[in-house]
Amino acid sequence: MTKTKIAPSLLAADFGNLQRDIEMVESSVADWHHIDVMDGVFVPNISYGMPVIKAIQKYATKPLDVHLMIIDPDRYIDTFAELGASSLTVHYEACTHLHRTVQAIKAKGMKAGVALNPHTNINLLEDIINDVDVVLIMSVNPGFGGQSFIENTYEKIRALKELIKRKNASALIEIDGGVTAKNARQLTAAGADILVAGSFIFKSENPVQTILDLKIEADGN
Ligand code: DX5
Ligand code: ZN
Repeated sequence: MTKTKIAPSLLAADFGNLQRDIEMVESSVADWHHIDVMDGVFVPNISYGMPVIKAIQKYATKPLDVHLMIIDPDRYIDTFAELGASSLTVHYEACTHLHRTVQAIKAKGMKAGVALNPHTNINLLEDIINDVDVVLIMSVNPGFGGQSFIENTYEKIRALKELIKRKNASALIEIDGGVTAKNARQLTAAGADILVAGSFIFKSENPVQTILDLKIEADGN
């Protein structure tokens, strides 16, 4: 049996009831809170920033998995460490000196993640894979929740899993975008370790049960 981590994306939460929604995630079998930060430049949308994450941190005890969709993320590594991020994921496409960025994240005691847009080939990670803790494969174009899953993702997961094996690396594979109970098993069978889900969880009638269903589906029980 695999042990898939489920990371509900708070982007789909009701911001008028953020405390309630964080407490819902806390009371569920979810493993991480997924927190999407967008700057309106790297992606065509702006989500939320530091004051909101500070509020999230007040009610969250589970790890904060912060996904930065911003240009030049090095500027904020210290800030996110202070905000209590447990993992900090930056985009391959947004980092000129990715190796330096990854080392700087780890130096602050956080897990270092690298995210790939749908068009970015996993082989570009060949020379960094042994340094990263998490690779986040975007299964939609970043910027918005509620988009439909890109089917080419399965092939990317399999190729990335191969690369990780070949390089004797230990990076976990995280999938973000359009994840539902329908594709969860296929994703973990291909090699996914962490599933992010926003709309599928928060727009459902019983989100605590939906998180459980997703985990059971993902683990193939
Ligand atoms: C998209 C974000 C995702 C998003 C996923 O840019 O990175 O985390 O919230 O939302 P769903 O699960 O609705 O596709
Ligand atoms: Zn995300």
